[in-house]
Amino acid sequence: METVKGADQTAGFKETLAKRTKEVEAVVEQYLPKEEGHQKTIFEAMNYSVRAGGKRLRPMLMEETYRLFGGSGQKIGPFMAAIEMIHTSSLIHDDLPCMDNDELRRGVPTVWVKFGYDMAVLAGDALLIYAVETAAKACTLTDNGGAVARAIGILAAKTGIYGMIGGQVVDVQLTNQPISKEKLDFIYRLKTGALLEASMMIGALLGGADEQQIKKVEEMASLIGLAFQIQDDILDVTATTEQLGKPVYSDEKNQKTTYVTLEGLEKAKLDVAEISARAIQILQELPGDNPFLEGLINRLITREK
Ligand code: IPE
Ligand code: IPE
Ligand code: MG
Ligand code: MG
Ligand code: MG
Repeated sequence: METVKGADQTAGFKETLAKRTKEVEAVVEQYLPKEEGHQKTIFEAMNYSVRAGGKRLRPMLMEETYRLFGGSGQKIGPFMAAIEMIHTSSLIHDDLPCMDNDELRRGVPTVWVKFGYDMAVLAGDALLIYAVETAAKACTLTDNGGAVARAIGILAAKTGIYGMIGGQVVDVQLTNQPISKEKLDFIYRLKTGALLEASMMIGALLGGADEQQIKKVEEMASLIGLAFQIQDDILDVTATTEQLGKPVYSDEKNQKTTYVTLEGLEKAKLDVAEISARAIQILQELPGDNPFLEGLINRLITREK
């Protein structure tokens, strides 16, 4: 098996990543609504935000975890589209004036700037529930309807009050206030970790993983989520708007306590590496071999966008 470093440095990792990103985008695209009818504006706002781009990390992690457990066939497609829709809906709402009040996302004006506050609220809602409608289409692509039903349950639970939305609630509520490390950890595990957990757990479940393996995958994804959000905080103060496609110093503007303000930049960087290494350790303990997945997790430590 390749070493952690080796997996990332494999000649062509970047090319593979670019190719895989395109493939994931093609899957997501297949499930976007047609822009027609009296409610056309909502379809335009939904598609505008999804098509603007992004790293497509969640559907990619989902598919790679599916492959890790030997998954094959089309049934993962609707879930890949669904998780990217849910993630995008969270970004649309996160950018609203009542939340982070940001005007740039994925390199283009945020949905509320482009379509108005009212349509942005509705576009976020629309993507959230269209994701469920989309995921349900997997029923026709497999004999194992039970697994699809359970995957929809995971998708909903990790998105909702015990997942991403719950995390955003505490994040928004504690804006402008000192936060303990323990509470910050809670926020990150929910607002960011939960959707990564859903992505990888659904990949594992539909790929044929057993209960114990799904549990391990959940643990691994939670660590990836934590490291991912800490790196997001780091980039907020070290990257450029051009690199990120979203405004830098958004956290400072909103007087947020972040991992960087709490622990300092250097400790934050060390912790991203340490937490990611723990995630890769779990990956290596799982059966199957997916060097690209390992490279992807490793890449999150050094990512610049
Ligand atoms: C941004 O997520 C929101 C966080 C959870 C930090 P991404 O950094 O994955 O955003 P896109 O999808 O690439 O735009
Ligand atoms: C948001 O965290 C996580 C979500 C659930 C959207 P941030 O507010 O730090 O995300 P960015 O930096 O705006 O992408
Ligand atoms: Mg936010
Ligand atoms: Mg934000
Ligand atoms: Mg951020």
